[in-house]
Amino acid sequence: MDSTAAPKQRLGIGMVGYAFMGAVHSQGWRTAARVFDLPSEPHLAAVCGRDPRAVRAAADKLGWASAETDWRQLIARDDVDLVDICTPGDSHADIAIAALDAGKHVLCEKPLANTVAEAEAMAEAAARNPGSIAMVGFNYRRVPALALARALIEVGRLGALRHIRLTYLQDWLVDPDFPLTWRLKRESAGSGALGDLGAHIVDLAQYLVGEPLAGVAALSETFVTERPVPAAAPAPATTRGVERGPVTVDDASLFIGRFPSGALASFEATRFAHGRKNALRLEVNGELGSLAFDLERLNELQFFDGTVPAPEAGFRRILVTEPDHPYLDGWWPPGHSLGYEHTFVHQARDLVHAVATGVQPAPSFADGLQVQQVLAAIEESASKDSVYVTVTPTAATTN
Ligand SMILES: NC(=O)c1ccc[n+]([C@@H]2O[C@H](COP(=O)([O-])OP(=O)(O)OC[C@H]3O[C@@H](n4cnc5c(N)ncnc54)[C@H](O)[C@@H]3O)[C@@H](O)[C@H]2O)c1
Repeated sequence: MDSTAAPKQRLGIGMVGYAFMGAVHSQGWRTAARVFDLPSEPHLAAVCGRDPRAVRAAADKLGWASAETDWRQLIARDDVDLVDICTPGDSHADIAIAALDAGKHVLCEKPLANTVAEAEAMAEAAARNPGSIAMVGFNYRRVPALALARALIEVGRLGALRHIRLTYLQDWLVDPDFPLTWRLKRESAGSGALGDLGAHIVDLAQYLVGEPLAGVAALSETFVTERPVPAAAPAPATTRGVERGPVTVDDASLFIGRFPSGALASFEATRFAHGRKNALRLEVNGELGSLAFDLERLNELQFFDGTVPAPEAGFRRILVTEPDHPYLDGWWPPGHSLGYEHTFVHQARDLVHAVATGVQPAPSFADGLQVQQVLAAIEESASKDSVYVTVTPTAATTN
């Protein structure tokens, strides 16, 4: 062992929120330096929540060195270099702007914000603090098979693109007695299936095609308009869920879009597709071939090469586990599959490199704002009998 090697510099992480995304992000931060050769070592300095006992327990379980109960205190800590925001959308803007203005780097979960105005303020904060790295957590870009799809499209293997169709289907709202959680209220979530699932497939479509959508037309629906209000404390089974409150977001959003290059796109985002748990599927058709992907077969990319003579042509399955596939150099031997959580390890890896090089990563806050503008255009179209709405970038997205 080389005892003269200098210890790696630490990158202190402070994370806000420790439930679903907090747990997955923790795994990403814990694992990235164990798999990849990183310029600095992520240090899980502190996790923040509002309940002192619960956040302490979360710190112990998820591997954080300490706990805070106020995100302002977390930002103020000298051992926190990067603030990782894993809270609902209603707190993204306040936390991200305060962190950027305090000179911290920021990773913010998607969608970037609940409104275009909030997202603009966040993109402006990123722009006025160029020394801080700011990234949005559109983690599906970091599925190796989708990074490979982008690479194949970029080098022209599909030629000019004609179609991209994406569906993102879940079923956890089919029960009309599922409680009225934060995801079902506009003031906390911004929108429903649209911001939750639609934001991912808008980002993915634009990433794969390599340009922003020019315009959209949409339909959206709220199938169950009232749901049981969750009791603040556990209530007896007989009284639980008696009071019902209004659902103020979409249950499903369907939309079509046009890219400046002429490619046409179609999208479906719903939490009402019985049997579909987290079914993100897409297909791209170009003048020379097609690509297809299904998140339930995350290690595979289907490629139809239209230049192959017809008698031999057909979709072939690329098993995306070779060392020269995107992100695979640090992982297991070929054929030893990866899963959902690995996308968050890749996200942490790319962010640590961005901090070390000072080069702003993608998706940036400007990219997050542009997705927010697409979501707003979709909502406008759905509210006006599906009229086609042009997506107009503002100054902050064209930087
Ligand atoms: N990238 C993805 O695939 C993906 C998946 C799910 C959720 N998300 C996004 O991640 C974010 C969080 O979603 P989730 O599923 O983890 O939600 P969750 O309900 O599981 O967790 C939210 C956490 O935020 C905490 N919190 C809320 N307000 C807070 C505040 N003011 N201060 C401190 N803590 C606060 C809650 O206590 C909880 O720990 C959302 O923006 C969501 O859209 C992204």
